[in-house]
Amino acid sequence: MRLFVFISDQIFETVNKNRNLNNIYLIGFMGAGKTSVGRILAKSLKMGFVDIDERIEKELGMTISQIFSKRGEDYFRDAETKMLRTISGNKEQVIATGGGIVLRDENWDTMREKGVTVYLRAPIGVLWNRIEHNTTRPLLQVEDPLKKAVELLSRRIPLYERADLVIDTENLTPHEVALEITEKLENF
Ligand code: S3P
Repeated sequence: MRLFVFISDQIFETVNKNRNLNNIYLIGFMGAGKTSVGRILAKSLKMGFVDIDERIEKELGMTISQIFSKRGEDYFRDAETKMLRTISGNKEQVIATGGGIVLRDENWDTMREKGVTVYLRAPIGVLWNRIEHNTTRPLLQVEDPLKKAVELLSRRIPLYERADLVIDTENLTPHEVALEITEKLENF
């Protein structure tokens, strides 16, 4: 762990020297590890950390599930776009996005303008293991959630793949994913 922090400190110095590093946007499907990797990455790069879903919940005083059930998905997507824009007004943050952030071109415009996008890629089997018992994801509260997850993921893969950097997370711990992001940023 200490070694990890030391290495990433060194790498970050180089990254910062070489590039005017702005925000880092972590994108990927539900269960990709955006929040857990984001916290580690932010700490090791000495950047702020923001989770968009968490901020939306705080601002609206409702959980994501409540927002979907009371106001509907379109309302949530509007809130998500607005929150992304607001948060992106600040610099040097690692930002964990929601899995659907890639659906709107407007969101891509914001992320591209304000930083670098990193796709945390994992096969559906890995993602499913992490999300199958979770009840806080309204899109999967359906009769056949696995089928729904497969449908959503296959539609979204071409969108996620637009990211500046892609990290294959399948065999990596969150710390290792964070380190790989730091290394790739060095050469970005
Ligand atoms: C969504 C993913 C969720 C949350 C909402 C919609 C999606 O975030 O934003 O339930 O459309 O994939 P996580 O990716 O953090 O689970």
